[in-house]
Amino acid sequence: MRMSFRVNPVCLWVNIYFCKTVVTIEGHKVTRNVIQNDSLERIASEVIGCPLCKLSRTRKNAVPGQGQVSAKIMFIGEAPGKNEDLKGKPFVGAAGRILDQAMEKAGIDRSMVFITNVVKCRPPSNRIPDEDERIACRPYLQRQISLISPKIICILGNTAYSSILGGKSITASRGKIVKKDSQRYFLTVHPAAAIYNRGLRSVFEKDLFKLSDEIKRIENAQQGDSLLSYTKKS
Ligand code: URA
Ligand code: SF4
Repeated sequence: MRMSFRVNPVCLWVNIYFCKTVVTIEGHKVTRNVIQNDSLERIASEVIGCPLCKLSRTRKNAVPGQGQVSAKIMFIGEAPGKNEDLKGKPFVGAAGRILDQAMEKAGIDRSMVFITNVVKCRPPSNRIPDEDERIACRPYLQRQISLISPKIICILGNTAYSSILGGKSITASRGKIVKKDSQRYFLTVHPAAAIYNRGLRSVFEKDLFKLSDEIKRIENAQQGDSLLSYTKKS
């Protein structure tokens, strides 16, 4: 008897590209779809040529994100603005200067952070990204988070808050730390909102001090844990 197999090329590609992997986060087993040999460079090159939503037709440059895979903190904003679209880098305009200054005051070094946005291409006239655009862009952000596995994600403003955590009002929740699916998040206002608002600027700066303290607290606790397991073993 002759047997014939028909291979669906799309299914084959999906199976080679993705593999289900069990990762352990803080003692909990979590199954994730991860891409074999994924890297921040690979994501960046996909983003740069991405045709997946209508923002691809109006962007000058896509803005994948900036920072090292070893970053402890991820900052997530809304979308690239005019300067970011021109340069292909996140937070390089007025909001970026506020972010840089606040990080410096709080002792957060650029080498410690990865900075990106909910959508990687600029919406025309800096409008809020549409739901379909956020959904189309989400896998890139999820892959960046999986690769970096940051100790904490700093949510900047309402768009990131609602897209990532389903939150409603960042002003009501800012300064808080929340945990979802074993990932820690720190909530704060968007630095663009602090450009013409001195009060909000000092709120933002205070929040980044709190974020810096939280990172130190997490690292001390993790050092304590590894010392404890070393003492138990020896
Ligand atoms: N605002 C954002 O949300 N992201 C940027 O990269 C710049 C301004
Ligand atoms: Fe692709 Fe995201 Fe840019 Fe849309 S915003 S074109 S999904 S990279």
